[in-house]
Amino acid sequence: MSILTMASTKGGAGKTTIAQLIIGVVRARGHSVAVVDADPNRTISNWLTYLSDLNVEISNVRDENQLVSEVRRLNARHDLVMIDTAGARSQMLIYAIRCSDLVLIPTQMSGFDANEAIKTYNIVMGAGGMTNRDIPVRVVYNGYVPKTRVSREVRQKIGKHGIPALKTRLHQLVAFKEMTFTGDLPDTGTPAAQAQLLVQEMQDQGLLPFLAQYRQAS
Ligand SMILES: Nc1ncnc2c1ncn2[C@@H]1O[C@H](COP(=O)(O)OP(=O)(O)OP(=O)(O)O)[C@@H](O)[C@H]1O
Ligand SMILES: [Mg+2]
Repeated sequence: MSILTMASTKGGAGKTTIAQLIIGVVRARGHSVAVVDADPNRTISNWLTYLSDLNVEISNVRDENQLVSEVRRLNARHDLVMIDTAGARSQMLIYAIRCSDLVLIPTQMSGFDANEAIKTYNIVMGAGGMTNRDIPVRVVYNGYVPKTRVSREVRQKIGKHGIPALKTRLHQLVAFKEMTFTGDLPDTGTPAAQAQLLVQEMQDQGLLPFLAQYRQAS
């Protein structure tokens, strides 16, 4: 029903972490989720194998043709298809973007990261041009440290390019890093609240069709 791609040509931007957080919130709300793992490192599919109780269908894809057919198949069966991509420009990334209802571009707080977010945004715009449609896209500020010069400068740089960003910012939190050891999603406190807010904002902005339907139904 809804296809969401995590995209950034930069490694370590937070694609997999944010995908994990969104999946946790959406599953807790009772929606069905499938993950298409387009990253040869298989980070998200290994995590899902560990958290098999989450009940998320996993598809590991090797190339863009397989990606497109798997996304189609899974989209007919699930509320959300989450595509996690590798941190580099690739054909798979472009095809994933072209399939998507929404592309999220996480960016960490540095000038290098901001430059890669801008590059990724331009890839999304190019992919939209190819398909003759506007592909909704939002930057997600990640590893955010409020009231610092670097965070302000990253926001200004992204803003200057007219790139829309979500208001919800994921802070630099140890709990998010701990997930890489424990595999467990945060279920209390600030980390859990930030994950909830992220999904709520996408719902409030009507960015994901399945959440919009949920809003009407509830
Ligand atoms: N908000 C955050 N606070 C603290 N640590 C974070 C945060 N976001 C991500 N990290 C950590 O940064 C590292 C990179 O994050 P992640 O693996 O999600 O990036 P990625 O974009 O998926 O990278 P890749 O392109 O290599 O797949 C991980 O160790 C993760 O735990
Ligand atoms: Mg990753």
